[in-house]
Amino acid sequence: MKSLKIGICGWGNVATGLFNTINQNKELIKSKGRLDIEISVIGARRDNPKCNPGNTEIVRDIFDVLDKEIDVVVELIGGVEVARELILKAIKNKKHVVTANKAVIFNHGDEIIKEANDNGVMFLYESSVCAGTPIIKLLNEELAASNITKIAGMLNGTSNFILSNMEDGADFKSTLELAQKEGYAEPDPTFDIDGMDAAHKIGILSSLAFGTNLPPDDFYIEGISKIEKDDFKYASEMGYTVKHLAVSKINNKEIELRAHPALIRSNSYLANLKGVRNGIELETDLLGTLHIAGSGAGQESTASGLISDLVFLANSNINPSSIEKKEKNGLIDFQSLSFQYYFYIEAEDIPGVMASITSIFAKKNIGIESIVQKEDLKEKTVPIVLITDLFLESNHIELLDNILKLDSVNSVRSIRIES
Ligand code: HSE
Repeated sequence: MKSLKIGICGWGNVATGLFNTINQNKELIKSKGRLDIEISVIGARRDNPKCNPGNTEIVRDIFDVLDKEIDVVVELIGGVEVARELILKAIKNKKHVVTANKAVIFNHGDEIIKEANDNGVMFLYESSVCAGTPIIKLLNEELAASNITKIAGMLNGTSNFILSNMEDGADFKSTLELAQKEGYAEPDPTFDIDGMDAAHKIGILSSLAFGTNLPPDDFYIEGISKIEKDDFKYASEMGYTVKHLAVSKINNKEIELRAHPALIRSNSYLANLKGVRNGIELETDLLGTLHIAGSGAGQESTASGLISDLVFLANSNINPSSIEKKEKNGLIDFQSLSFQYYFYIEAEDIPGVMASITSIFAKKNIGIESIVQKEDLKEKTVPIVLITDLFLESNHIELLDNILKLDSVNSVRSIRIES
């Protein structure tokens, strides 16, 4: 049986989850993973009242972990710049590195992977995307023979948790607080809410499937904060629900990369994944459409992915310095893409209001698939829900501005529809 001595850097939620899981499932990991994991040292700036490390050595300077007799550094400090420094230093010290840190991979992945390959050590990051739900090694190993044409899914557990609770009638704020309490949300939850966390993850998957850079060139990122409970009601009446979707796909030899809320068909696979679940739909040539779903956040799920990397590392014969560099691919300009749109417009209930709205679309030569005036809100105010035909993204902001400029319109918002 193989054995690995590991040093854990960081002593927060994820690190203590890993510590507990390795100890609780030690025999299982030995029998199924053929691996004995020894936690030799923990780099903890401070104690964590929620976890007793027992006799494991503790160092207060996380960089001291790198000088210990260990095979692997497990980087769980989070953040970007100190994590980069720690990882690069570990690699130069010829230690393998396992991390769950999507932000550092997104921002410095190409540099770190090159450094790991040059130094002949492994850099593994299964739990950086969808926590323990398998996707990184699936793309690298199991799907090595398949051409992938599209990856789309919900990659932020907190957003999916909030949106699916809102769909069932809960409020945004109280659901976010619950996600924080459950340990799903980032320490600074703006990364979850503003789409950045999902963007980090799709950036990583895109680099694996399509050879885009890490960091990627700029791409379109939008979060869930503008979604209202009513959007679920109106979407549902038309056979849709609202999800936060991250997409990477081949589009005429260029790569489309984006992360934003989208209306998706209620009867689709992804629509039915609720709560903190992440779900990914992969379009491949050899397997057709492949679905993966599982918990995408939380201590246990992340520990599962981290341990899977340790098992892979121990049982793999890959020499990282022999890994061939992939050809790099550029991104398509988001403004050149076309979407159908859902528009929610709150307007005064006066004659001609519908005509003035539709004329704005007509002027841009944009077709309207449906337009419905819903039940009155407040005195003399009505919601108008409109679905457009496909139109170019480059028209979108101007359309919103022009609608809002109408005297009879109080507010407008829009959500792309994923075909
Ligand atoms: N905050 C992240 C999420 C945790 O909600 O998905 C896992 O990366």
